[in-house]
This record gives sequence, C-alpha cells and structure tokens, in this order.
Amino acid sequence: MVTKKSTYVVGATADGYVINLHWGKRLTQLDDLNATVPLSDQSQNPPISYAMEELPAFGGLRYRDNVLKVDLPDGTRELNLLYSGAKSKDDTLLDIELSDGNRTDFKVTLHYELDTENDMIRRSYTVENGLKGRVNLDLALSAAWHPPTALDVDEKRELLTLAGEWNNEAQVQSTELKPGIAHTIQTPKGFTDHVSYPYFAIRQVPSEVNPGTEVYFGTLAWGGSWEITAHTNTYGYTRITGGMHHLDFGWTLEPGESFTTPVFIAGFTDEGLPGARRRLPRHARKYQQLSLQTQKNDSLYHPVLYNSWEAVTFDVTFDKQVALAEKAAPLGVELFVIDDGWFGDRNNDSAGLGDWYPNKEKFPNGLKPLADHVHDLGMQFGVWFEPESVNPNSNLYREHPDWVLYYDGVPRYEARNQLLLNLGLPEVQDYIYDHVSSIIEENDIDYIKWDMNRPYQGVTMHHYDRNPREAWVLIARGYQNLLAKLKKRFPNLWIESCASGGGRMDLSVLEHADQVWTSDNTRPDARLKIQYGASLFLPPRAMYGWVTESGDDNNVHIPLSFRFHTSFMGGLGIGANLNKYSDDDMKESTAWIALYKKLRPVIQNGDLDWLVPPSKVGEMIAVSQTTSKDQQEAVILAFRISSPFSAPMNPVRPRFLKDDVVYRVQIWLQDPHKVAEEYDMSGALLMHKGISLDGLNRAMFTSAVVYLKESYD
Ligand code: DGJ
Repeated sequence: MVTKKSTYVVGATADGYVINLHWGKRLTQLDDLNATVPLSDQSQNPPISYAMEELPAFGGLRYRDNVLKVDLPDGTRELNLLYSGAKSKDDTLLDIELSDGNRTDFKVTLHYELDTENDMIRRSYTVENGLKGRVNLDLALSAAWHPPTALDVDEKRELLTLAGEWNNEAQVQSTELKPGIAHTIQTPKGFTDHVSYPYFAIRQVPSEVNPGTEVYFGTLAWGGSWEITAHTNTYGYTRITGGMHHLDFGWTLEPGESFTTPVFIAGFTDEGLPGARRRLPRHARKYQQLSLQTQKNDSLYHPVLYNSWEAVTFDVTFDKQVALAEKAAPLGVELFVIDDGWFGDRNNDSAGLGDWYPNKEKFPNGLKPLADHVHDLGMQFGVWFEPESVNPNSNLYREHPDWVLYYDGVPRYEARNQLLLNLGLPEVQDYIYDHVSSIIEENDIDYIKWDMNRPYQGVTMHHYDRNPREAWVLIARGYQNLLAKLKKRFPNLWIESCASGGGRMDLSVLEHADQVWTSDNTRPDARLKIQYGASLFLPPRAMYGWVTESGDDNNVHIPLSFRFHTSFMGGLGIGANLNKYSDDDMKESTAWIALYKKLRPVIQNGDLDWLVPPSKVGEMIAVSQTTSKDQQEAVILAFRISSPFSAPMNPVRPRFLKDDVVYRVQIWLQDPHKVAEEYDMSGALLMHKGISLDGLNRAMFTSAVVYLKESYD
C-alpha cells in the first residue's frame, strides 16, 4: 500500500501469519522485504509474540496486547488466524482474508482504506461466524499498528496524548514511551469524553543517532467507550492497539452473522509534529466532505453565530431572544441560536429534558415567530437539543420510565438531575427522530446543537434475546444513526456536536456533524491551550470559539480584541451578553466580524499550525498560523498572554510560505478599524527574519492579527 509519502507493506509468512513488513518512508522497491517472524532464542519470548501481526488474536503463544478474543461454540477460546486470500478494489481499498487454522469457517476480513494524499490508513475488520454454533466476541479492538523497532535500545521516544476535564479539554500531554509499561488512554463512560481523547502521536526524541523527524500518529472514529494502548519492550518492539473499550463489551454472533469494528486511523510523516498536525485534520475534513452536503463546497463557510447560553443561561423568552437577535444581526452575525431552556418545564436543569415542545410561558405561540423574526433579520435560526437525555421530572419519563438505561434493583443514578435514554431501542430512536425532525420542519430550523451532559450507567438491554452487553455498541451506533437520518432528511442542516463542551470531539462525529463545541470554557487564555490540543485532529472550521465576558473580574480586563483573535482560529461565535455592550463595543465587534469574514476563506479551509505553542508558561506567548493550501495567503494570530518581565517579544517567524513570493503583510492590533502596519516582504525573508510585533511587547492580553497575501504589485 503506497501513499504520497509512505509505504505500508503486509505479507504472509510461510506458516500463514499475516504480518507488517514495513510502515514508514515510501519505498521504491519491495522485493527485498521478507515475510518472516523474528527469531527469538528465548523460550519465554515466543517469536509469534514479537511478530508484527496485523491482527494479533488471543491464542497460541501470543502474549503481547491482543486485539481480538472470542468464545467459540466448542468451548475453545483461542484463535490461530492465518492468511486465506486478498482482494483489492482499487489502489486505495484492500481486504485481506484470514481464517482460523482449525476451524476455517471462522473468518476475519481485514479492511484497509488509504487516504493517499494525507498518508493515512483507515483500518477495521469484519468477523464472520461460519460455524454451526454461537460465537461470543469478548474483545474486538480495531487494529494493531507497529511503528518500526527503535534504532538502538537507548533511543527515546515520546508519546503525545490529549487529556482533560470539563472546562479543560484537549490538554497536550507528553510522556516517554517506557519499556514494560502499557501506556493506555481510555474512557469507559460510553461516549468520547473529555478525560482523554482517542489520539496518539509517537515521535523520536532527536539524538545523534536519529534526527527525530518521524512521527506515527492516529485516532479512532468511534463515539462510544474506547481505549488505545501503546506498549513497547526493552528491545523497542512497539505495538499500538485500539478500538472499543473491552470493559463490559460483548457481542454475540449467531451462525451466519458478522460484526465489523469501528475504524482506527493512523498515519506516518517524516515532517515532525507539524506534519502530523496537518495530515489528520485534512483527513477528517476529507471524510466530512465525503459524507456531508453542507461540507462539500469549500466556499460555503461556517456562519458566524450568536448563542446566549453564557449570557442568560435558561432565561430565554420570546421577547428577550428577539431583543438579542436584533442586536446580533447588525454586528454581522449569520446564525442566531437559542440554547437550553426553550422547551417543556425547563427553567433550570432539574426538569423538562425529553419534552421537546416549546415552553408555553416563554414562547406562547411556539418557536415559529422567533424563527421568522430571526430569518427576517437576515440570519439563520438554530436550536439546542439534548435528545438522548431525560429529567425524571418530565412528561416523557413519567410516560416511559422503561426507556432509560437501568438495571432492575439498582438505583438509577442521576447526574445533572438527568438519566439517559437507551438509544439502542428502536422506539427511543423513533421518538427522538420524530420530535426533533418535526421541530426542525415546523420552524424552518437551519442548525441544531446536539448536547449530552452525563456519562452512561445501567447500560444493558431488557426483553432482548441477544447478548445484553451489545447495548454499548447499539447506543453508540444509535447516536450516529440518528445524526445520519437527520442529515439525510435535512441535507442543508448544520449540526454542532456538544457534550458538556468538548466531550464529543472525534472523527466519527465529524462524519455526521459539521462542527463541535470545543469547550464551555471561553476564557481566551484557557481557550488557546484547548485549541492547541484540539487542532491536532479537528479541521479548523469545525472548531468553534465564542467571544464572551469570561475571565474579566475586578482586577483583570481582557480586551475585546484579544477575545476576537482567539476565536478567529476556527468557526467564530459570539456568546457575550450584548445587552451589556456599549456602543463602542458594538462598533468594535462589527469591525472584527467583518475582518473575520474577509479572512475566513484562509482560516476555515487552511492548515492550522502553531508557531509558538501556548504551553510555554514562562514566556506566556502563543502564535498560530493558518495557511491556505496554495500558500498564497496566511493568517497569523499572535498572543501575549502575560508580560511579567516586560521583555520584548521576539519576531514571529512564519513557516510554510513560498520563498520567492512577495507577500503583502498587514497587521491589526487592538483596533479593527485601522491597519497598524503594512509592508511587502518576500516569503524567504519573512521566514528567516520574522515579523516584529512591537505592539505586543509590554502589556498583558495583547494580540495581533497578521494577514499575508501574495502581492502582485
Ligand atoms: C452544556 C453545553 O456545553 C453548554 O454550551 C450549554 O449548551 C449547556 N449544556 C446547556 O445546558
């Protein structure tokens, strides 16, 4: 398998083991590769354990991290999967067939799909029960990946992952890959979650032996519980496994049935972390474009939105929302969103979830008059839902207490006063689909924000003649299925995915939703760190940020310019209480929004790189650069978060420009109405000498927008 800059080779040994022969730099010839398992002279280290098997399944002398474990009808729980054939549809799709050595009717087909231009491979497999009895799957991770063995035993490799919490999403973590330690990131909570994100990157720490530019990185496209483990030994044999979390997982295959795992995506680059940072978001964008009508056209930009959640929380009424909409429209806002609080008896988080009809006191004539008013103001209209959740204090729960996840005799543990509906039940899916789609239809809704605010518990199926553990998968698939059905019926509907901020940011959701709500934390300095992590896998246009009042108190005032500039990095939203904005704030916001619209073709479609990561606490500087694919334009956002020593800021040195092109450089500081500096400079000099941003030298919370455009003068 050959991509633009990498090669991935799989071969079968004489004994039929299917192993990886190469993953890394692009090879010019393959004849010199041999499909053999490594030699081992230790009886405690059986060779097959160290072979880079594409699908290491529990059984035989395999003692490293396995991907698949089953219960066969005759009581055997070991497999010995051997090569039985291969089929390729074209240069990008390959299936390799395996069957168990002793029961050849037990089959597994490995699926490979190449994203050639981004050097990424999508892997999954299908297990097929051709036996006469029932097969239980106890573990079904999606793939095993094998970066090459370390060059010498002292070679250090760094593992990058993303950790977090609510309000503190996607924090980049770095650890040394240590022999003998299984480095596992995971969540058993039923959805993608904030505690860890399904992302890994392994890079060499540069040394004399190795320049350290090669990076292996990947992610899962799965919205249920998940796990990824990177495990190396003292010889540097490394295996990365990942997929659906093993905890409480189960799936039963009746004779003739099959099961396909979620996709595990990984890639290789020899362009360091910036190379990985560009490839994965581009890959995600490519698959969004393949599946979503709203994403097909690059010049259909994500709208500038207004959402009043942070400003007024549940206090949404027709009059108050109209007043806000009338303030938002002249600013240049293109989408007005009503968040939580518009339905049922919802005045706080203790009641109403599940009752998807407008609250009679707040909206006596329903949502349509507000939708019409917003449309008349020239904006699109959006509505918040939390479809899979229910408050016990709701009509839905009173009518259908058995629609939630629960075990008989076990408390129904509430979180945020709510329970979760069982999305594995067709009647629940129908209820949600019917209610959400009729509200969309009746009110001409252009966008929905699909939120989810608690972890899963009581995950099982009742009155189900199959394995009740299947619930975990049925629920995750149920969510995807609902989004897909809504997108099918309303192809132009924008969908934002949210789970208490950024709890649902993964590549499976991006195939069904246009954008994600990255975090409830809208403090601009916090946001920079969150965006730094999230941009490892999110396409910029999918990553929304809002301008709010968060972070201001008696001692600190964060200027509006700094707030806009941090939110300029992806999709732009406004979440401030516009009722409190002065005329000057309104004028300034209007000008920033206009500038954002001018720059968004680059911002939304370009590659987002970081020239200075926000994690360098001592310097408290952060600089991002988004570059258009043709390298003719770039937007640099530079931030001085703090200036404890009043030290001058070093010039910002852009990357990824064309050496021989002259760029017009325009710089905006605090004032959106005035270009603070403007000059021409060649790409080579810009990258060598850098751009001086004297305006950021002394004060805290200062920032700049720099626009580079190929100059034809
Ligand atoms: C959590 C979300 O992250 C917020 O943006 C907001 O929609 C609230 N839920 C509403 O309850």
